[in-house]
Amino acid sequence: MNKRISGFSKLNKAGKIKWIVKTFYKDPENVMKELMSYWHSNEEEQKIFDGFSENTISNFMLPYGVAPNFMINNKVYAVPMVIEESSVVAAASSAAKFWADRGGFKAEILGTRKIGQLHFKWQGNPLKLRSRLDEITEFLMTEVSDITKNMEKRGGGVRDIELIDFSAKLDNYYQLRVSFETCDSMGANFINSVLEQFGQSLQQFVIDDANFVGEEKDLEIIMAILSNFTPQCMVRVTASCPIKELGSFPGNMDDETFARRFYEAIKIAHIDSYRATTHNKGIFNGIDAVVLATGNDFRAIEACGHTYAAKVGSYKSLSNCKIDDGIFTFWMDLPLAVGTVGGLTSLHPMAKRSLELLGNPSAEELMSIIAATGLAQNFAAVRSLVTTGIQQGHMKMHLQNIINSLNATPEEEKKLIAHFEDEAVSFSAVRNTLELIRTENNSKNKAN
Ligand code: MEV
Repeated sequence: MNKRISGFSKLNKAGKIKWIVKTFYKDPENVMKELMSYWHSNEEEQKIFDGFSENTISNFMLPYGVAPNFMINNKVYAVPMVIEESSVVAAASSAAKFWADRGGFKAEILGTRKIGQLHFKWQGNPLKLRSRLDEITEFLMTEVSDITKNMEKRGGGVRDIELIDFSAKLDNYYQLRVSFETCDSMGANFINSVLEQFGQSLQQFVIDDANFVGEEKDLEIIMAILSNFTPQCMVRVTASCPIKELGSFPGNMDDETFARRFYEAIKIAHIDSYRATTHNKGIFNGIDAVVLATGNDFRAIEACGHTYAAKVGSYKSLSNCKIDDGIFTFWMDLPLAVGTVGGLTSLHPMAKRSLELLGNPSAEELMSIIAATGLAQNFAAVRSLVTTGIQQGHMKMHLQNIINSLNATPEEEKKLIAHFEDEAVSFSAVRNTLELIRTENNSKNKAN
């Protein structure tokens, strides 16, 4: 069967589904019903989802959970998390509670600037370009005033324009690196609109300016786009307490031993990139879940975080730990460009509810909440790793998934949960126990 199609995007939704199910599935009618079963029951609401992306045929569900008891800067939050991985929400909740009993998380905003870039080639004299930079800047700023005026009213706008000479690395390549303040919005559309206008206006400046007569063909704008690396849009989050207040840990591990083993685990993630990747993945388990729940761009946040983790030339842990004078301190500096107004944050009904649950925070407050969730997640993961190992808690949470996949009855489910209260969980162990339960049941039924 021909699996290629032209004009797919022009078909209506029903037409798209029909073509998909007939072409790719063995049981088209059932698949069609299933796809339609995930449509929103309210047609108007579904239209909102259809509008987010092209060629939408259904919705893809993920669990929406809440981690309560997050104390950040003395304020308590119930943090919304969208994530499919068992045990992430449980781990965040447990770490949140642990730290709430020890003063909570402290968060500090280290900066809120974002960066955009105009990339261009300039065959002319670089000194001449540099000598006209003040006039260029003034001209560009006037040219974008229509785009920037609303943002300026809110306290934001373009903050700085820098000319960077990259011609030693790539022939004739220069860049305008522009820094922005976008207040409570993530600001991607604003930044990109300004930059694209900058590109056109720079071309115009070279055409009009008496110093560049006949040199307009020396300028070629290559592209204009924001940078998702935002090291000046940064939050620091810290959890700290005296070692003697850490308490005791599974296997009767005392506070001193725990603190030392935890410290070693963080150091390992600073020297070995294989470990650092998994370590930071645990941090992003928390971060991505809140970023998604609040309608922010998790790809941007991930890309930025990983670049920052590699800022010294090798990939390292994002979190840090120190032990000074009997005080255990665990912290992380994280670049995080998020918004609480505009974009998906104000379109997605559940993103709006998430922000409401958080008390409609400013972008700075949301940065603090997201970073604290990432740090909490990291604390919970490393705490498990240096005490019981990760599988005990992880597989307990995974038990329900295994039970569901084995189609156990509610009665069998109860017995399985009771059985695995003190037993190690694995897929085969659950399947074998279920078989035993069923055999026992059959024999009882026969005996009756
Ligand atoms: C699993 O999703 C995340 C962990 O692997 C993180 C870590 O190893 O630190 C548990």
